[in-house]
Amino acid sequence: MDDNNSQSESSKSKPDLIDENSELSNSNNDDTSLENIVRSFQDSMSVSKKHKFWETQPVGQYKDVGDTNLPEGPIEPPTPLSEVKQEPYNLPSAYEWTTCDMDSEETCNEVYLLLKNNYVEDDENMFRFNYSKEFLTWALRVPGYYKSWHIGVRAKGSKKLVAFITGIPARIRVNDKVVKMAEINFLCVHKKLRSKRLAPVMIKEVTRRVHLEDIWQAAYTAGVVLPTPVATCQYWHRSLNPKKLIDVGFSRLGARMTMSRTIKLYKLPDSTVTNGFRKMELRDVPAVTRLLRNYLGQFVVAPDFDENDVEHWLLPHEDVVDSYLVESPETHEITDFCSFYTLPSSILGNQSYSTLKAAYSYYNVATKTPLSQLMNDALIVAKQKDFDVFNALDVMQNEGFLKELKFGPGDGQLHYYLYNYRIRNALRPSELGLVLL
Ligand SMILES: CC(C)(COP(=O)(O)OP(=O)(O)OC[C@H]1O[C@@H](n2cnc3c(N)ncnc32)[C@H](O)[C@@H]1OP(=O)(O)O)[C@@H](O)C(=O)NCCC(=O)NCCS
Repeated sequence: MDDNNSQSESSKSKPDLIDENSELSNSNNDDTSLENIVRSFQDSMSVSKKHKFWETQPVGQYKDVGDTNLPEGPIEPPTPLSEVKQEPYNLPSAYEWTTCDMDSEETCNEVYLLLKNNYVEDDENMFRFNYSKEFLTWALRVPGYYKSWHIGVRAKGSKKLVAFITGIPARIRVNDKVVKMAEINFLCVHKKLRSKRLAPVMIKEVTRRVHLEDIWQAAYTAGVVLPTPVATCQYWHRSLNPKKLIDVGFSRLGARMTMSRTIKLYKLPDSTVTNGFRKMELRDVPAVTRLLRNYLGQFVVAPDFDENDVEHWLLPHEDVVDSYLVESPETHEITDFCSFYTLPSSILGNQSYSTLKAAYSYYNVATKTPLSQLMNDALIVAKQKDFDVFNALDVMQNEGFLKELKFGPGDGQLHYYLYNYRIRNALRPSELGLVLL
């Protein structure tokens, strides 16, 4: 591998903890502004511990933060396709590249197990994401996907899958430009192979394969601070099954709270309250697309969804994605829409429970129903479906319902990044219209 300094454990949108004591408290945005984060991070770094890899990449560099003279747009121009490296990057001699065919049940199972055992954990190593096979297939076999972007590394001898990274194609609008991008996700290196600089090779290889398709930009998220976030968001959590969340250590009993008062606090009605609230169906795709495109237009960075994308990403898919809408009983117009995806976490080392069932807020649009009422209905259906917790980022207009609906702030942050695309100023979470899985 081409460089050899090491980096501590990273985590993405980690399944983090809620503190019932800070449940309804303010999240202090001043402390989390990008410049403060970058500054405190730089201060805490010794000169030798810089980003040896990321400093070589066309991403916003710390030294450029605040320099508004730099133009918005690609950092580097595309190179002629004939100049893109044709052979894969070198791996250590005991390992080989593999393209993971997610149509193959066997491969899908190998990917599932690699992630189940080695993917993102919270800081205390109590929970680890457990993306289902169905979810992985949905997340990776998207309209126009490239099999070559589903990249694995195997041990040559045993053929065991030891690392993984993926890209999927997406059109993402940044201000008024729609840019073809890759969304990079599921970067994972087996626990036994950590800190050996395998991740930079994986990232360079997926980048090379993205370039081969004449795509030069990417979007990704991570729990770690890298050069340089375009936005820093926070997860909020709404307890649906507070007793279990407390039993497994996901949340704590608040000061002066008893279990029964806590259960009462989070109790939800048995059925939804909005007239005309129903599950989305195939016939709703055009209306939902119009609603969503119109809504996402207000954010600085957002996907440019067409009907194919909406059908793929938002049509309900059992145990993967749920979508509901409000159809006016009088006019039959579709006026509101909400959705969430299913991402359980394994509970590590608990005698009584093995899985935390979490729903993650996805895309929501309210034009007639108050957003907090719409989201309260989403909470009610999530509760009916036996989810333990409903998570939401503070992106888009989510801040408008989080506190009212008794979400509490989590202890981790999720940073958003663009590869080879500069934006002039870091965004507030409310300027971001993009949710990555
Ligand atoms: C993330 C992971 C693949 C990194 O591998 P590693 O063995 O810890 O680190 P390596 O020695 O291979 O590489 C370190 C380099 O990768 C970078 N890196 C670490 N995590 C990263 C991430 N999530 N995204 C992009 N780059 C990352 C580091 O910043 C470092 O580069 P730098 O010197 O320029 O800062 C590994 O820790 C892992 O599988 N963690 C659990 C799953 C996870 O968190 N995945 C990322 C989800 S966003």
